[in-house]
Amino acid sequence: MIPVTKASVWKALAPRNMELGPQDAPKVFTHSRLSKGSDDIAWLVLDRADESTNTLSEAVLTELDTAFGDVEGMGAKGLVIRSAKKSGFIAGADIRDFKGVSEAGEVETRMRRAHEIVDRLAALRVPTVAIIHGHCLGGGLEIALACKYRIALGDATLGFPEIRLGLHPGLGGTFRLPALIDPVEAMTMMLTGKTVHAKKAKTLGLVDAVVEERHVENAARAAVAGKMKTERGNWKSGVFALSPARQLAARQMRTKAEKHAPKEHYPAPYRLIDLWEGHGSDANAMQRAEITSFSELLASETAQNLVRVFLLREKLKGAAKGESGIRHVHVIGAGTMGGDIAAWCAARGLRVTLADLDRNVIAKAIGRAAEFYDKKLHSSIERRDALDRLMPDFDGSGAKADLVIEAVVEKADVKRKVFDAIAPKMKKDAILATNTSSIPLEVLREGLASPDRLVGLHFFNPVAKMELVEVVAHDQASKATLDRAHAFCGAIDRLPAAVKSAPGFLVNRALTPYLTEAFAMLDEGTSKETIDRAAEEFGMPMGPIELADRVGLDIGLEVVRMLKDELDDPIPEIPAWLEKKIESGETGRKAGKGLYAYDDNGKPKKASDTPAPGPEMSDRLVLPMLNTCVRCLREGIVEDEETLDGAMIFATGFAPFRGGPMHYARSRGVADIPETLKRLEQQHGPRFAPDNGWDAIRGET
Ligand code: NAI
Repeated sequence: MIPVTKASVWKALAPRNMELGPQDAPKVFTHSRLSKGSDDIAWLVLDRADESTNTLSEAVLTELDTAFGDVEGMGAKGLVIRSAKKSGFIAGADIRDFKGVSEAGEVETRMRRAHEIVDRLAALRVPTVAIIHGHCLGGGLEIALACKYRIALGDATLGFPEIRLGLHPGLGGTFRLPALIDPVEAMTMMLTGKTVHAKKAKTLGLVDAVVEERHVENAARAAVAGKMKTERGNWKSGVFALSPARQLAARQMRTKAEKHAPKEHYPAPYRLIDLWEGHGSDANAMQRAEITSFSELLASETAQNLVRVFLLREKLKGAAKGESGIRHVHVIGAGTMGGDIAAWCAARGLRVTLADLDRNVIAKAIGRAAEFYDKKLHSSIERRDALDRLMPDFDGSGAKADLVIEAVVEKADVKRKVFDAIAPKMKKDAILATNTSSIPLEVLREGLASPDRLVGLHFFNPVAKMELVEVVAHDQASKATLDRAHAFCGAIDRLPAAVKSAPGFLVNRALTPYLTEAFAMLDEGTSKETIDRAAEEFGMPMGPIELADRVGLDIGLEVVRMLKDELDDPIPEIPAWLEKKIESGETGRKAGKGLYAYDDNGKPKKASDTPAPGPEMSDRLVLPMLNTCVRCLREGIVEDEETLDGAMIFATGFAPFRGGPMHYARSRGVADIPETLKRLEQQHGPRFAPDNGWDAIRGET
């Protein structure tokens, strides 16, 4: 009998098609293994225990430290570092370790220790080679940068996404990357968080070679033997070693950063620019400054809230696991939403048929999809395949789909007619979904033979940008249908939020008082630009006036009307001028004119000389939204505060650095908000009356 050792298990489990170095007599750690072949080259293979992806936890780093020490002692003539995970090299730090950090001093001690480990790798006397496939991000890229050579496979993506967490690279990236490639390119990568693919990484000099899997071993050997040609020698590093050149470039970078991220809400880009401007010519000084700056940022409220957003996304993703069994999607209604949902599903690999009463609308939707694929898909083959998967349906062949999504006009009787026509022709186990933004599903399920297979899949506009889908249950939806609907969201790379069927569900119901309060302010004579600025200064990606135009004033008005009819939420009256505007065809951005006029690129023409918003204005807009969120929690429309916060962030872009509406309420003080609402109620009327739900929330804290 062959004895079962850790090494033999390792060998049996290793993916067959990946070169993972010599299998014999490896030294096996918990998250990696080290071995040396007859050619005296050591291979350190990373395979974090119990995880599908390699991330750098403190335990992983400590193990790497031991392994680097062993390499020094084992007489190897080179070290190759590779990941055994299919997903990639290393996806970065373990973000879970970042949660709840509040002491910069403590982080600094931990970071100094981590730097010592990476410095140990950089100082190894033998050539070191990182073999990179899949994700190589953040701390993973910093490990790769500490190696002498980087060899990528064609699927590698490299980058520093830290900026999205309100951070900058913290494990040596800020000085190792600008030393390796054009410093302006390096800064752009770190400031934008954008990743680069293997080919681009080679052009930048970030990797030394791009090879196919079967050439990995030879390439690694060539690198260790010093026979790999590298194109380093970055003349621009010399130029930017001079501080006047750095000052000039830094100024330009600050101006660009201001357009995307205001300094008071997002300090990290400015800290990074300061670091580079101040210490760009002295790696040691830069390293010390990087550690301090990173530690302070990590302990800051912005980074902690953005870490929360990251974990909220993971939570929603967690609910999207499983097999949906959906390969063919049929979309009825090829307008703004249906067309974009169809294009998105086809881009994510599903077969899609698209129907509409009007053939021209289908043609337009497919034209829009082609433009989208041109912009977003990487290769001509991917673009062609996506277009091949997206088919117009003129003869009803789509009825045999696994999932039918209805996205016709927001009228219950029209939707019911569509259901009557399609439901009897559908496959026995197929799901029927509606993209309605506000009609309760109990109304739509009436008359269906199998109401258990009806579900709401409420996408947001624009589909490609807004990651959330509200998965709407109703009293007769089966668990299997809901599970499959969640898994479908996962399969198309969207985030599901489970909500109960009630007018407006969660997101539109919470947005309504925000939009209608903006209309009330307009009525009082406040300029639209000032109103939008109040919301933007709070941190919203766009103000309520611009948002109303973006959604479409006609659609928005339907939703408000319906909510006013169905709920006793205190929603202000719809101004008569708004109804007139819609009647005259000024329905918003799609019509070129709504509350704003739009230029040819769809940008609103805004006056620049309007007054700054008053201090109370953002409260008037945001607190009614928070009040409605609390009401939705009380009514059980959404199960918990985390799902609610995630939904509002990923569907509306609610100021991410504030961690979501409920998190913002809790940070500001759950006693303060009802108090402020009461004050607003006295000044502006009963629509500001605090919901009873605040008492329960206050009671918990
Ligand atoms: P739209 O007006 O752009 O498109 C509706 C399409 O449905 C039109 O092309 C129309 O020809 C077609 N249609 C109407 N009756 C039909 C029938 N019986 N059979 C086949 N096609 C038919 O509307 P939009 O904005 O795409 O909205 C569609 C649905 O999505 C609505 O329920 C809306 O509430 C919802 N929704 C809209 C959002 C938005 O921002 N516009 C966001 C989320 C949901």
